[in-house]
Amino acid sequence: MAKIIPVPVFDGVVFGATGDLTLRKLLPALYYRFRDGQMPEGSRIIGAARSALTDDAYRDRARGALEEHVVPADLDPATLERFLRCIRYVGLDAAAENVSFGALSDLLDPDRVRVFYLATAPALYGPICRNLAAAGLVTPQSRVVLEKPIGRDLASARQINDQVGKVFAEAQTYRIDHFLGKETVQNLLALRFANTIFERLWTSDVIDHVQITVAETVGVEGRAGYYDTSGAMRDMVQNHLLQLLCLIAMEPPVSLNADRVRDEKLKVLRALRPIEPYRIGTETVRGQYSAGAISGQSVGAYRTDLGADEPSATETFVALKAEVRTWRWANVPFYLRTGKRMPRKVSEIVVQFKDQPFSLFPPSAGPRQPNRLVIRLQPEEGMRLDVMTKDPGPGGLRLSPTGLDIRFDTAFGIRFPDAYERLLMDTVRGDATLFMRRDEVEAAWTWVEPILDAWAGSTDLPRLYAAGSWGPTASIALIERDGRTWNEEAG
Ligand code: BG6
Repeated sequence: MAKIIPVPVFDGVVFGATGDLTLRKLLPALYYRFRDGQMPEGSRIIGAARSALTDDAYRDRARGALEEHVVPADLDPATLERFLRCIRYVGLDAAAENVSFGALSDLLDPDRVRVFYLATAPALYGPICRNLAAAGLVTPQSRVVLEKPIGRDLASARQINDQVGKVFAEAQTYRIDHFLGKETVQNLLALRFANTIFERLWTSDVIDHVQITVAETVGVEGRAGYYDTSGAMRDMVQNHLLQLLCLIAMEPPVSLNADRVRDEKLKVLRALRPIEPYRIGTETVRGQYSAGAISGQSVGAYRTDLGADEPSATETFVALKAEVRTWRWANVPFYLRTGKRMPRKVSEIVVQFKDQPFSLFPPSAGPRQPNRLVIRLQPEEGMRLDVMTKDPGPGGLRLSPTGLDIRFDTAFGIRFPDAYERLLMDTVRGDATLFMRRDEVEAAWTWVEPILDAWAGSTDLPRLYAAGSWGPTASIALIERDGRTWNEEAG
């Protein structure tokens, strides 16, 4: 196993320090990196938020969050106390006019790598950056980390990027798409570019189509306010699903340099065929969950979760057919779907190979199943290549599909780090490979926006689907119209 590469001593400032993302994801991620010896002692994590809290009061909150979100066996009391001693807190309204950053400035070391993590509403990114610059806190060694969503359409994304860009150079700007930090997503690069066999097969000569499914069992939980202004297209497709599509469809980069990788992803986004208004009805489906049951438990409708009297036009499910207009992918559709309140949490990519032109084997050998590569992002991370094999034993030659199966958890026997662990350390290291560049975010909006506009201009509401189902039946029709089916193991 390769050694963990330590990062330099750093100061990390988290704006939005009392928020859900910080408590549920960022602090546990930092704790694990600290525990594993990657975060050098002496590094500081400075929480900043509007509440007036002492360092100790914030440490108590942090302790509570870690006790809730770190596996108990991983929470060693002595390590936890040492970690908590790295944490400081500053109460301030970082986006306000005339805010004083004096207390924060006093804590920062001028010579260290400085990471400003904006775990706040995107509307505050511009004002916070402006205030940081005015207070003289942006050093050449500083980086800013922005959470998605960057805007809600192309114009607002550009505005945020412009505002941030006045203070931080593009090379200092880290736009997080946490899917890129997932181990199996990083493994897509290894699969494609550290192996000879797949790259040779990665073409429309051999591949019939690709499916990308990101299904969740959760509803909108405590985030209904945000979610109802967003919906699945902005929350998941514009970023996570399109990024997965890029990693599958991109050409081999000339190196693993961050910009070379991102250049190739950008080309894919730019090659996406726009879905014109006349194709919206057949190539996109939006749905919204109604009441139903998941694993035997009844769950309410989206509208009930929202507490709204009026019907909402927000989609909690999207299915669509995308096409990448390059020679490599000519006539190879990419079917994407994502939804909340699905029967199971599963994220996977299915690369479906073409059928053989004809079979040597008689009908008595059984039906042929074309080869299929299933890349499971979560849970049960792994990869399976389905190949036809002969059934053992006598009784004539019968064939059935068998999986060449790698389960990453059993193959490596180690805990899979959370996506944020890798990404946070990359910001300190200054490696932007797994972050979205400005032009990528904007190209993704350019493709998504006409679909959103067409939906907004329609009098139809999203189609209802029962919680615990795989979305509206129209999503099945979307793929079956092309003579294909969703991978039945996922749905
Ligand atoms: C977030 C979305 O980006 O990703 C959430 O805002 C979604 O709505 C989450 O639930 C899914 O992430 P994960 O890592 O749980 O698959």
